[in-house]
Amino acid sequence: MQRPAAAAVPSNRVLSNIRERIIVALDVPSAVSAREIVDQLGDAAGAFKVGMQLFTSAGPVFVWELIGRGIKVFLDLKFHDIPNTVAAAGVEAAKMGVWMFNVHAAGGHEMMHRTVDSVVEFCESTSNRKPVILGVTVLTSSKEQTLIQTGVTAAVEDQVSRLARLSFDAGLDGVVASPREVGIVRKAVEDQAFLTVTPGIRNSGATSDDQRRVTTIGEAFAGGSDFVVIGRPIIGAVDRRVALEKLVEEARQQG
Ligand code: C5P
Repeated sequence: MQRPAAAAVPSNRVLSNIRERIIVALDVPSAVSAREIVDQLGDAAGAFKVGMQLFTSAGPVFVWELIGRGIKVFLDLKFHDIPNTVAAAGVEAAKMGVWMFNVHAAGGHEMMHRTVDSVVEFCESTSNRKPVILGVTVLTSSKEQTLIQTGVTAAVEDQVSRLARLSFDAGLDGVVASPREVGIVRKAVEDQAFLTVTPGIRNSGATSDDQRRVTTIGEAFAGGSDFVVIGRPIIGAVDRRVALEKLVEEARQQG
């Protein structure tokens, strides 16, 4: 089977600017709170992530607002449904003009492949820019026990490897995985253009909250992450701009 359309962003080899590689998670309950964070951080971050909490509360109107301001949006709704439904949702995401969106790789090959096909077809017929489409491997909050509860007896690493390969074969541009598992993804998919986007970033010595498979930002980039997603370490800080600048500095020093 032929792989549809290549990734819409360059790999980390050309992404020399650390800021471009930082995606701030707008994990807040309203457009008002999210707007405040975006205004505080401005272009100090590369992109902003709108996840299910904010999207459920503020909807596409807020996404349009961000895109209208020239902001790159990662729509993190982790679609997982029958192929037809996910493909249709993917087209709506492309219509909105998001830079990146994701689906659960556990939804299987057909679900992912049909989504890529439909999005590519839509973008080609409308001259819209094709969003980067990512597969979520194993959530960074999950551990072996979490997989067992759902009937998956594979080790976390094996499951990440399997789902990364499946995402690549289905034509996706990359995966969301723990920064500790970038090596596993690179081994499963040799194509260096295949992106790894990694949440689960913590300041050295800080609490990991509900995240289990975490690293520092420096370790994530040194390990080969293309993009990092950071929520609480920035949005929960007293001075968010200072928190972001500290992370940029930390990445520079360890990189
Ligand atoms: O606050 P924290 O930095 O842990 O936020 C991580 C963000 O990344 C959250 O918005 C979470 O939904 C998201 N995420 C994740 N693990 C994945 C995919 C997305 O933690 N596998």
